[in-house]
Amino acid sequence: MSALLDNLPLYRRMTADDLDIVVAIENEVYPHPWTRGNFSDSLNAGYHCWIMELAGETVGYSVVMIAAGEAHLLNLSIAAAWQRRGLGREMLDFLVKFARDFLAHKIYLEVRPSNIAGRRLYAGAGFSEIAQRRGYYPAPPGREDAVIMELELK
Ligand SMILES: CC(C)(COP(=O)(O)OP(=O)(O)OC[C@H]1O[C@@H](n2cnc3c(N)ncnc32)[C@H](O)[C@@H]1OP(=O)(O)O)[C@@H](O)C(=O)NCCC(=O)NCCS
Repeated sequence: MSALLDNLPLYRRMTADDLDIVVAIENEVYPHPWTRGNFSDSLNAGYHCWIMELAGETVGYSVVMIAAGEAHLLNLSIAAAWQRRGLGREMLDFLVKFARDFLAHKIYLEVRPSNIAGRRLYAGAGFSEIAQRRGYYPAPPGREDAVIMELELK
């Protein structure tokens, strides 16, 4: 983890009470953000929704679905003011361990080809690009493909 981090981050389960700050960060860091309803649906569906806190401040969050031994990373975001300090990698490592403890044998995700930060983050953690999904994301005008990345968990 980056030497810039003085405190260890703390992880806790997201609840409906977190949605104001989560949606605020989401709108700040994505050109095509999830809606409040997307997060509520994830909570209601029983997906694994995590808040990352640093000194009591919400600095990031993630959403993971695990089924049939496969973990699908649906969202991983770090607040703009906290980016580039090692927190994204820290949360990704936490999620990989969590998925492994949950007996998942692989973790996969979709990322926009234009999302250089995301692709480098995942590649740096050992994920491989295995396929593309055509027209997966809205990207006015038109659609943007998704790169599918996967990590085998041993
Ligand atoms: C992608 C994201 C989670 C990275 O979080 P972060 O805390 O800034 O990342 P870290 O500081 O842990 O960096 C880990 C690695 O990611 C890559 N990376 C992160 N930000 C980058 C940037 N702006 N440009 C290029 N590479 C970047 C680098 O490889 C970096 O390793 P390095 O510091 O050794 O070079 C963050 O930029 C974010 O929340 N973006 C908006 C949401 C998003 O796109 N999420 C991923 C969707 S699939």
